[in-house]
Amino acid sequence: MKGVMFNILEEFVVENWGIQAYEDILTKCPIHARGPFVGPGTYPDADLLAIAGAAAKHLGVELADAMRALGEFAFPLLAQKVPDLVFPCRDSLEFLARLDDVVHVEVKKLMPHAVTPSFQFSATGPDQADLVYRSQRRLCPLVEGLLAGVGKLFGDGLSASHTHCVHRGDEDCVFALQIDAEECAA
Ligand code: HEM
Repeated sequence: MKGVMFNILEEFVVENWGIQAYEDILTKCPIHARGPFVGPGTYPDADLLAIAGAAAKHLGVELADAMRALGEFAFPLLAQKVPDLVFPCRDSLEFLARLDDVVHVEVKKLMPHAVTPSFQFSATGPDQADLVYRSQRRLCPLVEGLLAGVGKLFGDGLSASHTHCVHRGDEDCVFALQIDAEECAA
């Protein structure tokens, strides 16, 4: 996983619970997972999960809840990395339709060795779509949080119902997306 993700995780903990909490969390991780992590570097996924796991334990929350909160925190920071691909979009769905073949493609150009997941977007109506997430990393709680961040940034009442999940035995994770036209117009 790219160093930028480790940096966002650190920022998330430090901003919410302080530098001391982050240092305490690192002491609970194996020595190789304590960084330092530089943005363009590439590090084992297991190290990110070790830090996130230790953070969840430290804060007394489930790992999935911590990953959701991390995703919501992360989205505006990620959006700043590719502003031209985010801010011109009219709404969440227009942005998410381009996530796989424009946004993450650009990410791979900017950050060599990035291994991004696959997202398949299919419109199911003017204000709704299905988004299929496929990744060996199976980080669907992070996706839930990122989608919450997308909805917040566009302010269009995006809801994402996680209808199929690999952790419940389904083949893929599917999110049924809907934007609220009234909120868009407001
Ligand atoms: C707008 C800007 C975005 C940027 C700049 C961005 C960038 C990245 C980067 C750098 C990685 C790490 C890849 C690696 O370390 O190998 C990543 C992974 C990931 N991205 Fe994005 N991303 C963006 C938006 C999103 C959105 C909106 C979603 C979901 C709705 C998403 C879902 C994910 C997930 C789940 C991963 C973890 C890897 C995996 O599951 O296999 N990203 N992204």
